[in-house]
Amino acid sequence: MIRKAIVNDIPGIKSIIDNYAKQELMLQRSLSELYEFTRSFYVCEIDNEIIGCCALQVSWEDMAEVMSFAVKKEYREQGIGTELVRSCLDEAKDLGIKNVFTLTYAVPFFEKQGFKIIDKQLLPHKVWSGCIKCPKFPNCDEVAMLKEI
Ligand SMILES: CC(C)(COP(=O)(O)OP(=O)(O)OC[C@H]1O[C@@H](n2cnc3c(N)ncnc32)[C@H](O)[C@@H]1OP(=O)(O)O)[C@@H](O)C(=O)NCCC(=O)NCCS
Repeated sequence: MIRKAIVNDIPGIKSIIDNYAKQELMLQRSLSELYEFTRSFYVCEIDNEIIGCCALQVSWEDMAEVMSFAVKKEYREQGIGTELVRSCLDEAKDLGIKNVFTLTYAVPFFEKQGFKIIDKQLLPHKVWSGCIKCPKFPNCDEVAMLKEI
């Protein structure tokens, strides 16, 4: 059910993200950005439909980000989100990365996965290049969370 993404999955991933971005729960991503991130994504597929996605993006030495994480509303609360994040954490471990962070509104979810709230200023400067594209910049109300693996 959970696997690495292929290019054909990108329109399905975009549709899930667009839906939550409209509700200001996630950062909008262009098709161009998503194709560039293809190799970073894990997807959950049920009956030929992409119903969940999550990407692990290496951002710096010893640091990677869990991003573009979402599960379609009708499939939530069934453990799919947990499995998607676990796949990203396993890959981070395989890559030798010791810290995984996320910027999120889903704080209780990430606490259940062992993430802890941190000061955003502790994140690598490079992360802010993504933030500049966010319509909320510079008034970010997402919470920075980090898990040491
Ligand atoms: C966050 C999200 C991906 C979680 O996916 P999911 O498949 O529902 O997650 P799971 O079923 O694995 O949930 C695991 C646990 O976290 C809890 N949980 C899930 N989403 C939560 C949320 N948004 N806030 C608080 N708790 C949440 C579940 O109740 C469950 O608790 P339990 O173990 O006590 O039963 C999903 O809620 C979602 O798509 N939200 C909208 C988009 C979003 O906020 N993305 C995160 C941006 S980084």
